Amino acid sequence: MDLNGKVAVISGAGSGIGRAAALRLAREGASIVVADWNEDGARETVSLVEAAGGKAAAIKVDVTKSAEITAMLDFADATYGGFDVLYNNAGVGTGQPPFPESPEANWRRTVEIDLLAVIEGTRQAIPRLQARGGGVIIATASLAGLFGFQADPVYAAAKHGVVGLTRALIGLHASMNIRVNCVCPAVVRTPLVTAFADRLTGAEREAADKRLSAMPMLPPEEIAEAVYDLIRDDSAAGVVMGVSLGDTRRVVDPPITLPVTSGSLDRR
Ligand SMILES: NC(=O)c1ccc[n+]([C@@H]2O[C@H](COP(=O)([O-])OP(=O)(O)OC[C@H]3O[C@@H](n4cnc5c(N)ncnc54)[C@H](O)[C@@H]3O)[C@@H](O)[C@H]2O)c1
Repeated sequence: MDLNGKVAVISGAGSGIGRAAALRLAREGASIVVADWNEDGARETVSLVEAAGGKAAAIKVDVTKSAEITAMLDFADATYGGFDVLYNNAGVGTGQPPFPESPEANWRRTVEIDLLAVIEGTRQAIPRLQARGGGVIIATASLAGLFGFQADPVYAAAKHGVVGLTRALIGLHASMNIRVNCVCPAVVRTPLVTAFADRLTGAEREAADKRLSAMPMLPPEEIAEAVYDLIRDDSAAGVVMGVSLGDTRRVVDPPITLPVTSGSLDRR
């Protein structure tokens, strides 16, 4: 897809990877709907896009609320006459203490934001993209969606779900010209990883800052570049793309589907 003149809706675009993607896609000429429950962050992203010569508009959205996802997509219709790309990127970790000690509210929040909101965003986007003649749905999963990430098992479970959803929707390419893909980054230098240090003070803070700066992490711009590549490659559907340090990108495996040959399960 040539992004010039197109519209991309990005959730969690008020920070980190979503913000980097907003800037990257805007550079290709896309107008961006910057959706985030952090209004200040969303507005800041719009300012950055505009300062770089692009077009963007902010909306406050909690992606765990179905009606707010509808409002986000309606906002894209009202502001830019629809959208061509939905990037389900908003995400959180479960926090401390880790599962199984984590309070129920914490692990449920992880599943709601990192998996259920991606499913619901995808569900709502499909008929709108179909009516437009096609488009791209992309998500930020994680390497934790491919391996046993012991530090946050519920996060790993949710991200495995996103990977499964992506693979299972490969058939939408043939049936509706909608390409569903995801990226699976290794550790990225964003507030998701670094913000815990902000809550510390004195020697603890210093030690945390030192540890964080020594830790090898991807810059969010590398994930944004992989996202852009998946959007512009018209053959990319059902692709699960790992992104690790040194911009080593790898399609994790060839997309395959269960050999169902009849019935609604097989959309090819
Ligand atoms: N940072 C990493 O190491 C890393 C690695 C792999 C995958 N990821 C994934 O990348 C995505 C982006 O994370 P990031 O690293 O840029 O973190 P980030 O904290 O910088 O950005 C996440 C954004 O999502 C927003 N958000 C969270 N819950 C929301 C909700 N319910 N509704 C609307 N907005 C919400 C936050 O306000 C924030 O602006 C997430 O899905 C995360 O799981 C991150």
